[in-house]
Amino acid sequence: MDEDFPQIMTEYKAKVGAQDALLLVSPEHNQSFPAGVKNALDILTRGGTNELQGLKLGITGASPGRFGTINGQSQLRQFLPPLGVKIMGAPLLAVQVGKDTFNDDGTADERTTGRAQEYMEAFARFIET
Ligand SMILES: Cc1cc2nc3c(=O)[nH]c(=O)nc-3n(C[C@H](O)[C@H](O)[C@H](O)COP(=O)(O)O)c2cc1C
Repeated sequence: MDEDFPQIMTEYKAKVGAQDALLLVSPEHNQSFPAGVKNALDILTRGGTNELQGLKLGITGASPGRFGTINGQSQLRQFLPPLGVKIMGAPLLAVQVGKDTFNDDGTADERTTGRAQEYMEAFARFIET
């Protein structure tokens, strides 16, 4: 199976391999991260190369549930380090999306925007170190 990887997967792996860092933003499905996210990560470990090795990763997400992706994020933090990923530990950003979280123009409310800004500033520092 690894020998005849579809071209689209090879291209995707090459694109990820060319990055120093990635920000994984995910919703939550049944107290976990969606299956598609797992597939996308698994592909990076097959085909003879592991693009997760040494990759700096931020993990965040938004969902309507009470814990706003915190469970899914925890599970990602559990299985990714043994694959060589360097995960930013803090701050955490798990957004519970309510009816007033996003405005009609796509911007977020002041609190969410502030939290996202702090997160991105920390992520930039994490990448530079
Ligand atoms: C199968 C499934 C399970 C979900 N489980 C959760 C969950 O456990 N916690 C949560 O906050 N949201 C959950 N959601 C809501 C999603 O996180 C997401 O907010 C919702 O699907 C809207 O996003 P979409 O328009 O991209 O589908 C679930 C959605 C689906 C489809």
